[in-house]
Amino acid sequence: MHALVTRGRPGLELIELPEPETPAGHVKVRVLRAGICGTDLHIDAWDPWAESAVTPGLTVGHEFCGEIVEVGEGVADFAVGQIMSGEGHVVCGHCRNCRAGRHHLCIRTSNLGVQRDGCFAEYVVLPATNVWVHPGLTAATATPDELDVFGIYDPFGNAVHTALKFPVVGEDVLVTGAGPIGLMAAMVARHAGARHIVITDIAEPRLELARSLGFRALNPQAASHGPSSSGVGPLQAVQRELGMLEGFDVALEMSGSPSALVGIIENLNFGGRIAMLGLPSRPIEVDFGKVVSHMLTIQGIYGREMFETWYAMAAMAQTGLDVSPVITDRFAFADWQAAFDRARSGAAGKVILDFTTDISTDPQGA
Ligand SMILES: NC(=O)c1ccc[n+]([C@@H]2O[C@H](COP(=O)([O-])OP(=O)(O)OC[C@H]3O[C@@H](n4cnc5c(N)ncnc54)[C@H](O)[C@@H]3O)[C@@H](O)[C@H]2O)c1
Ligand SMILES: [Zn+2]
Ligand SMILES: [Zn+2]
Repeated sequence: MHALVTRGRPGLELIELPEPETPAGHVKVRVLRAGICGTDLHIDAWDPWAESAVTPGLTVGHEFCGEIVEVGEGVADFAVGQIMSGEGHVVCGHCRNCRAGRHHLCIRTSNLGVQRDGCFAEYVVLPATNVWVHPGLTAATATPDELDVFGIYDPFGNAVHTALKFPVVGEDVLVTGAGPIGLMAAMVARHAGARHIVITDIAEPRLELARSLGFRALNPQAASHGPSSSGVGPLQAVQRELGMLEGFDVALEMSGSPSALVGIIENLNFGGRIAMLGLPSRPIEVDFGKVVSHMLTIQGIYGREMFETWYAMAAMAQTGLDVSPVITDRFAFADWQAAFDRARSGAAGKVILDFTTDISTDPQGA
């Protein structure tokens, strides 16, 4: 099979590997779609984080959907032909949190495409416990659009986990970062009944994408214009415009930017809650005096709850939440290099790879 691997230096390589075996308790999946994530870009760039976390030779990729083609010994719940999305966090099953059923807090989580071979390959093997089946569908009956969305259930799950961490019904929600996950989190908050939702980003293409999805989106670093906003920052100005008198109730930090967190703390109501998914690359200086006196809650969010987040995702999809507009680009697997370039540009929404096209006609001659 073809697989995209890291060699422990900048740039990935498309190579041929033997198809993986299917151990007991595992399933083998023919990959149909996969999403490109910031993590993959870090590994492609072979930055200091990648060097510290990834073993050269690893197959990259963790966001995917596919068709089950083989089930290992002892797997009774899944059958060949089913369409599934993959939960990429493989947990140990025996640490204190695992034994308490808190699998998302496992202290020995092993991540697909980081610590174990991932999904940028024609086949991937993972524990049956990490399979989320989309009932009633086969590779022949699922539509291309359905498969596209199933391919990004992993980041969709990040968005759902973050957006539903605190109640948002009737609340005013600030989302910092209009990347694919921030945008999906805003869509989830809207679906769940938030009142006002404001999204910030510092990149114009991302703000435009947010606006095209019907959101109020602004650059928090831009100079304010107009009579109502003179002398105040853009985030204060938008609150005035919306008639918000006391600050945001809930904030979803989806950028990893230190200044975004500082801006959140300045614009929250007393008792405000922050669910923080964005991964800062360095320590952040925070006014903890304000956190204390305003009784703010800061909650870190990692991955997805297994599998409550997945239930919520499926239920919201069934009740009309369509996250497909965040997918702006689809490339054939053979065009992976162009897909990575597009994802790296920061101008796109979610970029996905399609594995149903013929890989042997690799246009890049790799
Ligand atoms: N905790 C987890 O389990 C988990 C999982 C996946 C991703 N993440 C992190 O979540 C974040 C979002 O993921 P993504 O794929 O959407 O990332 P992304 O990089 O595509 O989007 C982040 C966006 O934040 C914007 N941004 C930068 N500085 C900003 C600022 N000061 N204010 C507002 N916006 C700003 C960027 O322009 C970009 O559009 C990333 O930090 C990623 O590393 C965390
Ligand atoms: Zn990801
Ligand atoms: Zn564990």
